[in-house]
Order: sequence, then structure tokens, then C-alpha cells
Amino acid sequence: MMIPQEKIDEIRERADIVQIVSEYLPLKKSGRNHIGLCPFHSEKTPSFTVNDEKQIFYCFGCGTGGNAFTFLMKQENLSFPEAVRSIAKRLGIDMPLDTKPSNEENQREIMFLANHVAMDFYHQNLLTSPAAENAQMYLKKRGLKPEIIKDFKIGYAPAGRDGLAKFLRNKGISLELAEKVGLVSTKDKDSYDRFRNRIMFPIMDTRARVIGFGGRSLGSEEPKYLNSPTSPLFKKGDVAYGMYQAKNVASKEGFVLVVEGYFDLLMLHQYGFVNTVATLGTALTINHLRKLKGYTKEIYTLFDSDEAGKAAAIKSLPLFLEEDIHGKVVLIPAGLDPDDLLQKEGAPKMAHYIQKAKPLMDFFLNSLKAKLNIETLHDKVAFLEEAAPYIANIKNIVERDIYIEKIANVLHIGPDIVLSTVRAAKIPLYSKEAEGLKDQQRHHIPTANEILNKVDFSKTEEKILKVLLAYPSLYNDSISRTVEIFNTDFLKEAGRLIIDVLQKGSGKIELSSLIDAAHDEKAKTWLVKNSIHDDVSIKEEPKKILEDCCKKVIMESRLKKETSLLLKKFTDAEKAGDMESFKVLTESYLSKKRG
Ligand code: GTP
Ligand code: MN
Repeated sequence: MMIPQEKIDEIRERADIVQIVSEYLPLKKSGRNHIGLCPFHSEKTPSFTVNDEKQIFYCFGCGTGGNAFTFLMKQENLSFPEAVRSIAKRLGIDMPLDTKPSNEENQREIMFLANHVAMDFYHQNLLTSPAAENAQMYLKKRGLKPEIIKDFKIGYAPAGRDGLAKFLRNKGISLELAEKVGLVSTKDKDSYDRFRNRIMFPIMDTRARVIGFGGRSLGSEEPKYLNSPTSPLFKKGDVAYGMYQAKNVASKEGFVLVVEGYFDLLMLHQYGFVNTVATLGTALTINHLRKLKGYTKEIYTLFDSDEAGKAAAIKSLPLFLEEDIHGKVVLIPAGLDPDDLLQKEGAPKMAHYIQKAKPLMDFFLNSLKAKLNIETLHDKVAFLEEAAPYIANIKNIVERDIYIEKIANVLHIGPDIVLSTVRAAKIPLYSKEAEGLKDQQRHHIPTANEILNKVDFSKTEEKILKVLLAYPSLYNDSISRTVEIFNTDFLKEAGRLIIDVLQKGSGKIELSSLIDAAHDEKAKTWLVKNSIHDDVSIKEEPKKILEDCCKKVIMESRLKKETSLLLKKFTDAEKAGDMESFKVLTESYLSKKRG
């Protein structure tokens, strides 16, 4: 059953975001706001801001923001209705019971339940069924201790065709939903199990809900590992195996180890390295990093030390830079995976390798160096060009300087040369092209569209919305027409939301409910950020600013049309190799942009 809108509104009105956030992190009063250390990224000085009056939060460090519902959704990994219920419970508000299994929220619950029942079924089957003897022997041979088998609820899927399907049916669990999470498949009304004769690893989210499974074959049957298919609960690149068991220790230790395999993970936990998670046969993704970042400052990769493992580590470097999180590489002897290593050489050896972990950036630079002969001029240049974009993307400027210095030392050149290469690696492509047309073979020339997208129309549009947020009474119908010609999509969306509220009419903007109505993440974030952060520049003459900005948007919209015509000519000239026209048009374009 859907939660009625009035209920949601009642809960939103009574919810106290300061109190809810305080359950998770200490907040300090600062002016009109409360501030604390952001739970969604690692930081040393507080930029996480909660506004009591508007009932919203925003982090100036990582840009996460929203209302009390959004906070719980992110913090506890809840769906919207789950967050609503969770707050209702805190407030002692009666909620209608979920009875109809037809609604989305309830379906999710039942899918979790199906997975949970399946986990228990596999686990009990492993521990008690005579037919599981082979599986027991296999696990023993692989060195897994009974405690780990219990902690991770490892199980065994029987070899028959529909053991689980029957069990679920007897428990009254809808096979249709079991099929949605990939436990069973149905053919001609006949359901059979997806996982048969496999060791089963339940995959849990950070709240210990079972979202999927991995199953390993006992012998040489293919595939060696079979995972749950993508489902409403499970997306491979989004989860790390072992996260629930690892998260607390990871936050205490300050780092988390990432391995590739199920057995690697289990063995690390067994040997006391509890701050370990595993990617499930996929490369490390940005979503993995974002999840892990919530718990720990540093992430160490502990992959196989073969070429593929090293390449995988290097490939993840851009993600670390993007997320501004510190990565290290643990190197272990080639030919062994972490599982083998622990069983052959024990925990102290592993601890030693972990302790010697190298920063990912150094690891990258070293392997680049090994690939080249940097005594030659040619390879010095090659080194610089390949390394520069990585260095340019280091967010911390001190760290960036240190690497510039390091590279200068390695190549025996001046740091100023490294610095200028790094700078060039970050300069927007276009301004370089305008001067050095000869270089065009080596450089990417932006397409007309790319250039157009660089023109910044958004400042004026933002001003209009800021005025509306602060002075809703200034709204009139012509503004809604102006918003419709906004060039920036998320600002248009944010504008429509504001106007929608204003047209409905109390003359007041309830920000917290506006946030629930926003589907576009960027629009939502913009609204939160700009409501928490006062723009003093609009305080003097809001009405005039609003009018001027509206005029400007209309002009810019015209300019955009003209520019895009111009750019079409520009591209045509470029295609035809007509360098003279290309140059003339470029200049004309630039002067338009400036002026
Ligand atoms: P063991 O042989 O059981 O020790 O596995 P491993 O972890 O040493 O195997 P490997 O290094 O080949 O694979 C690492 C991880 O990739 C596994 O733990 C799985 O998550 C995944 N993987 C390996 N083989 C397959 C496969 O056939 N299918 C799928 N979906 N994933 C696989
Ligand atoms: Mn292995």
C-alpha cells in the first residue's frame, strides 16, 4: 500500500532533521546552522551543514544534500518509503500496515525475505544434509573454518532441480518474486532452481540484508562462479562482498583492503584481516569507492600480482582521483592469490605486505618508468605526457606539488617544465587550439556542440532562481516563460519546481517538500545548496536583478541561436579543410563569447 501523501506531509512537518542527524554524528551550532563532519565523504574540518528552520542539509565538501528523508536514505541505504516509515517510528506516528503485496515497497520486502529464506535454506542444507558431504569436504579442503562458514552464512545449493523452489513455495513465498531476484527460473509454469550443486555465498548490503548470491561449482563445471543476475536488489558493480562484516573495523583501522575473489575475502577474514571487502569479479567501480569512502579514509587494492592484477590497479587510479580518496597497492608475490598466500605463508607475512603498500600514484609512475627508457629525450616527453593528466587531477594542491617535484627528479628536469605540462593537461582544450592551429593533428579539436556547451549561460539563470527562492512574492507569469527557455537543463527543472509550488499558491516555499518532488539529482542538489547558502548580492535590489536577469536570459537565448549557426559554418570549414575561414570564424566566435 502506498503511504498516503497527507501522512508523508505530516511526518515531514514533524520531523526534526537536527535531531535525526545527531543520532549519527555530533553537530555543533554555528550561526543559523548546525555543522559537523560529513558522513558521506572524509574530511577534517566540518562542511556538513544542517539548517533547522528549512529542515535541510547540505555538505559544501561533497555536494550531498537533501531533507530528513534523503538523509536517512543515504545514511541507512533505505528506499523513500522505508525512510518515511523509519521517521514515523521515531515520532510514534501510526502508519497504515502493509498488507497488499502488490505495491513496490512491499515487493522489495518480499524479495529480501525470499533471499533471506534461501540463505537459511542453503546454510542449513550445508550443515545438516547428508547430501552436502561433498560440499563440506570441499570447504574443508579449501581451508575454511566452521566459524567463518557460520559468520558468512555460507551454504550449499542441492543438486536437484527444484529443492529451493519447493521450499519457497511451502513457505508461501511468491515464486514470481523469487524469480525477480534470480533464485528460480520458470518455464511452462514449472519452476527450477538457478543455483544447483554449488557452494553458496550470500551477498549482503551494509545492513545485512541479502541482496544476492554467488555460487561456486564444486568441481570443474562451468561457470566456476555463478552470480545472481541484476535485480531490483542487486547490481554487481554497486556492491562489495563482505561490506557488512568489514565496515566497522574498516572505519576503526582507517583503511579497507579490496580483493577480487570470494575465497580471498573469506581467508583474509579468517586470518584476522576483517577490514576486507571483495569486488565480485568486476573491476573496482566508482560506486564501490563511494560506498567505501563512507567508512574509511584509504583503500588498498590487494589483487593478484600478475599483469592483469597490476593493470586493474592502475585502471582504478582515475576513480580514486575523481573521488579524492587515497589509494594504495599491496603487492604480493606473483603466482599467488591472497588466499594461497595466507595459507602458505600465514598472517604475519600478509601483514608485512600490507604494511609495505605503495601509494597508487607512485605505483603508476613506477610502472610507467619501467615501460620507458627515460634517459632518452623522446621517452622523457612520453613520460610527461602520459603522467600529466593524472597529476593534474590530484585535487589536493600540496600533494600535486609533491608529485610535480618527484617527476622532475625522476626525469632530471626542472619542476617548472613539469608544472607547465601539468597545467596544459588541464586547460580547456579550446583556448589552446585558437593559437596553435598547426597542432591540430595531435590535439582533439572540439566539435561545435562541445564548444557551445562550454558557454556558460547558467549564472544568469541561477540568479533568477535565487531571487525567487528568497523573494517568492516577486514571482509573475512572465518568469515562468523565461524559465522555459533556460539553457541549463537542471536549472530549468529546478525553476519549474519552484514555480509549480508558487503557482499552487501559499506564497511560501516549503523547501523540504520541494526536495521530495525533485527527480533530477542536480536540480535537487542545487535547490538545497542555494537555500542553505545566502547570496548577499541579491539583497539590495532583488526586483531589478530579477528583471535584468530575465532580459539577459532572453538575449542569451538569441545569442545561442546565432552562435550555433556560426558554429555550424565553423565546423563545415573545419571539415572542408578551409583553414582560412576556420581561423576567421574562430576569432569571430571568440569575440562573441567575450563580448
Ligand atoms: P577460486 O578458484 O575459488 O579460488 O577462485 P578465485 O577467486 O581464485 O578465482 P579467480 O581469480 O579466477 O576469480 C576471482 C573472482 O572473479 C572470483 O572470486 C569470482 O568473483 C569471479 N569469477 C571467477 N570466475 C568466474 C566465472 O566463471 N563467472 C563469474 N561470474 N565470476 C567469476
Ligand atoms: Mn583462488
